[in-house]
Amino acid sequence: MRVVSGIQPTGNLHLGNYLGAIRNWVRMQDSLSGGAQVAGGGSAQERGQCLFFLADLHAISMPHDPAELKRGTLEMAAALVACGIDPARSVLFNQAQVPAHAELQWLLGGTARMGWLNRMTQWKDKAGKNREGQSIALFTYPVLQAADVLLYQATHVPVGEDQKQHLELARDIAQKFNNDFGETFTLPEPIVPPEAARIMSLRDGNAKMSKSDASDMARINLADDADLIMQKVKKAKTDPEPLPSEMAGLEGRAEALNLVTIYAALAGETPDAVLSRFGGQGFGAFKPALGELLVETLAPISARFRALLGDHEALDAILARGAAQAREIGLPTLDATYRALGLVR
Ligand code: TYM
Repeated sequence: MRVVSGIQPTGNLHLGNYLGAIRNWVRMQDSLSGGAQVAGGGSAQERGQCLFFLADLHAISMPHDPAELKRGTLEMAAALVACGIDPARSVLFNQAQVPAHAELQWLLGGTARMGWLNRMTQWKDKAGKNREGQSIALFTYPVLQAADVLLYQATHVPVGEDQKQHLELARDIAQKFNNDFGETFTLPEPIVPPEAARIMSLRDGNAKMSKSDASDMARINLADDADLIMQKVKKAKTDPEPLPSEMAGLEGRAEALNLVTIYAALAGETPDAVLSRFGGQGFGAFKPALGELLVETLAPISARFRALLGDHEALDAILARGAAQAREIGLPTLDATYRALGLVR
């Protein structure tokens, strides 16, 4: 079993990233390095291995500020460690230190099809009506994402709902390559959490919580302090109705559904269990309870985050060591890909 996933190091790590993906990364890391021994005890490699990376190469597909990208990369490394990614047990690195990601992307470029990329909803959303004005990196973004996971023969890729389509494309690319040039890549399986795959904005229950939302009030950042979290929850958009006692009663109430989903994901309960407790109560009672639960979950993470941020040297060293490991793990697949294509080196 090989678990691989990535996050763009732009902006803050927010609650959507955490509940949709990072919390699952930590769980998978812990279960692979902990109790889940194979018969006869096996090495870490036999039990499985996790690779998590900062998708800094993806971050240049949109206009960006180089100084901010540099700062964001170290900050995101600190945030992941603060969330529980342990560089001693998982391989943690940034793409830019592992040239094989960019190389493999080019090698897969002969297999990926324009039509497949044209159908990607992220491309359509980000490009809007101005396709001609976009960078080619924004268009070929999913091919790099396929390279990210195929390079390591990933079996499982924990992501939020919005990345599922990109993973399906990675499978299509792998399948076509294997058919055309011989068995080279493992088909990766996206792992999407059932309960928090899509956390929505606090200002609009129909838009996903995102780093790029202009309003900071739309998202909870992992580094927000307790006062700010309480304030954001208090100001979160809702409707005037009390909470229903069953999920069916949340139909057409996107904002209320989102807050209940967040509560359930944090408390480790089903949304039905949350509603059976809060049904009939208004948001005046529910919001403070949700705010407290958020503060309780995030306070230890943001304390660790702040402590780690001060030590740039340590963060640099973590990424450099992870990148060296990643280069070694990816090398056989990169070589096999060149060979399969008949490229003489
Ligand atoms: P990114 O940086 O936008 O997000 C990182 C992870 O967080 C999840 N996520 C969410 N989950 C639930 N609700 C939300 N509102 C929410 N917002 C974000 C994302 O689904 C993702 O799992 N292209 C990827 C990065 C990437 C990658 C990869 C992922 C590059 N290569 C290879 C997996 C495998 C991205 O921009 O994620």
